[in-house]
Amino acid sequence: MTTPKRYLITSALPYANGLKHVGHLAGAYIPADIYVRYLRAQKRDVVFVCGSDEHGTAIPMQAIKEGTTSQAIIDKYHVAMKEDFADLDISFDIYHRTSAPIHHETAQEFFTKLNDAGELEIKESEQFYDEEAKTFLADRFIKGICPNCSSDRAYGDQCENCGRTLSPDELIDPVSTLSGKTPVRKKTTHWYLPLGKHEQFFRDWILEQHKDDWRNTVVGQCRSWIDGGLQSRAVTRDLDWGVKVPLKEAEGKVLYVWFDAPIGYVSATKQWALDNKKDWRPYWEDKDTRLVHFVGKDNIVFHCIIFPLMLKLHGNILPDNVPANEFLNLEGDKMSTSRNWKLDQRDYINDFVKKENGGGQCVDMLRYYLTQIAPETKDSEFTWKGFQDAVNSELVAIFGNYVNRTFVLMHKLCGGKVPKLHEDILDDEDRRLFEHLQRTALTVQYSIEEFRFREALFEIIDIARKGNQYMQKKEPWIVAKQLAENPGAQKSIDNCLHICLQLCANLSVLINPFLPNTAKKMLHMMKVVDKMLDWENAGKLKLLSVGYSLREPQLLFRKIEDEEIAYQIEKLKSGLVKSNAEKNKAVKMEEKSPSTNQPVNKSTIQYDDFAKLELKAGTVLSCEKVEKADKLLKLEIDLGTEKRTIVSGIALHYKPEDVVGKQVIVVTNLSPRKMKGIESQGMILTAEDSDGKLQLLKPENPVAPGSNVS
Ligand code: 2FM
Ligand code: ZN
Repeated sequence: MTTPKRYLITSALPYANGLKHVGHLAGAYIPADIYVRYLRAQKRDVVFVCGSDEHGTAIPMQAIKEGTTSQAIIDKYHVAMKEDFADLDISFDIYHRTSAPIHHETAQEFFTKLNDAGELEIKESEQFYDEEAKTFLADRFIKGICPNCSSDRAYGDQCENCGRTLSPDELIDPVSTLSGKTPVRKKTTHWYLPLGKHEQFFRDWILEQHKDDWRNTVVGQCRSWIDGGLQSRAVTRDLDWGVKVPLKEAEGKVLYVWFDAPIGYVSATKQWALDNKKDWRPYWEDKDTRLVHFVGKDNIVFHCIIFPLMLKLHGNILPDNVPANEFLNLEGDKMSTSRNWKLDQRDYINDFVKKENGGGQCVDMLRYYLTQIAPETKDSEFTWKGFQDAVNSELVAIFGNYVNRTFVLMHKLCGGKVPKLHEDILDDEDRRLFEHLQRTALTVQYSIEEFRFREALFEIIDIARKGNQYMQKKEPWIVAKQLAENPGAQKSIDNCLHICLQLCANLSVLINPFLPNTAKKMLHMMKVVDKMLDWENAGKLKLLSVGYSLREPQLLFRKIEDEEIAYQIEKLKSGLVKSNAEKNKAVKMEEKSPSTNQPVNKSTIQYDDFAKLELKAGTVLSCEKVEKADKLLKLEIDLGTEKRTIVSGIALHYKPEDVVGKQVIVVTNLSPRKMKGIESQGMILTAEDSDGKLQLLKPENPVAPGSNVS
């Protein structure tokens, strides 16, 4: 394939509705980052864009869950996700967001152009409507049984379990996720992208042109979509959160999130160009640009069918490849946010990266393991034991050990300088290793260009493995013992360490796209500048000059101890128990008799979990009974700098007048919750005595309202 003039690389825009886990990282971010770092080392013109997907029903749903606004949700998670990606060295050229005005304008312009050109259909249809919430039920606002896998985690747009794209009509037993009620049907008008009209285009472009260079799993999914009959897809929604449809007659409607989100790649490129005084157009309009979308398998149809059609109709280039990954499971089960069975990027960062000086090695350890097990052709599995083995038996025992012993021996036997290569005594062993290196550099390059990152990484480690074997055969430390009788033996020591050092330099070039922190550390040890990492150096035999003095070695990787693994497994398991227990508690709350005083077994939490609570002492200013609720009292509480209204279930234990003036302990950072129409802005703490009576907790002696409790 000829080298294109430029590259535009995208990673799926994650929804700004929660922290992302390592499954996401392995699917769309690490592979893209490896590819981009490789292209940069090749000195290609490349722009790597990503950003937060801030629209769609996922956002208001999360806002309801957290008792806050959609705006607060996107602001919080946009910042958090951006930080996590930076902490894991994902090197986007821009991490943008779809709430930005430039994105709204770009998405509206796309819609207008397609609509004005008559490429969209307008249809009236009956859609599910929640009479209680007084809203149409788009996408995540409707839930039911999946017609494909029978899971009850199927939504109006997609099944969480099998990933199948759905429309609300396909759901079995649909219910509103807002009210839990069965919806009715109501007429509404929407704009549709007529996919069926373009079937031949998809057949030619995907099933013929790309049948060999796209992954089988990707072509397979597209084939089943195309063969299954392409239906028109609505690109507008009756919702109040999203990019407004730019038409007078579409008041109250927004663009479908999957219409606007991929346009986010275009608006991110525009913003990047503005920031860097560049022209964005060639990246989306010039046929000599290679556009590659890195996504997870649940995003395939959007990036291979819907978005490409939008791009084609709008006059843009099409993706050259969509190397989608399958799913990453965790310790024998699917990763799931709702069941708390996951490893969040943030948790790894806190437990490993931030815990030590130079957390870069921990970043690289995760990048290594996630690439080694990348679900490139089928689902794969993250296990903590697997992580420990990958780090200890490969990074530490093979790669780190090889680099370390080479440097140690060079300091001991060659005076800390790159020794000479004595061509006259080169033997087959030396030549074989050189040849292996040169062949492997090409294989690695080929594998990366073909998006086979696992294979590329294996080959790189294999160079270090072969290097270790070579050194074991040459035994320069034994040869050194014969130097007294045979000074000529120094030549053999020199050759061994010269070759081993050139191999180390090559390893830094090859590993750089995968483990950038490790490559940087190696540069430091070799006292060379970043330029060494240019890909043109891969496979070269004279990267380090003879006589050049090098630094003492630094350990590249530390071992992962058994206790660390045991802790993580325990943490994962207790997280699961906690989330189930919480769910049960929420359901049972309504039925519970006033007091049972049963021992409650809660799983152990970490100090970090406890530290999330904000507890303050307050003084009750006033208190009254809540109408039509015999268990509830409404309290006004003075917290020093502010007053809060709190609804508490203590009416069977305290009369309102008995509470006024008392000091209480308040949880002040609990998300607000409505009870009998009153917003409760916190919770007061009580203890249950042996008669089941609730006793208010209070400081032993009065303290100033607002005092911290710890
Ligand atoms: O699945 C998701 O998380 C989507 N937010 C991905 C969007 S990718 C692109 F189209 F922006
Ligand atoms: Zn399903």
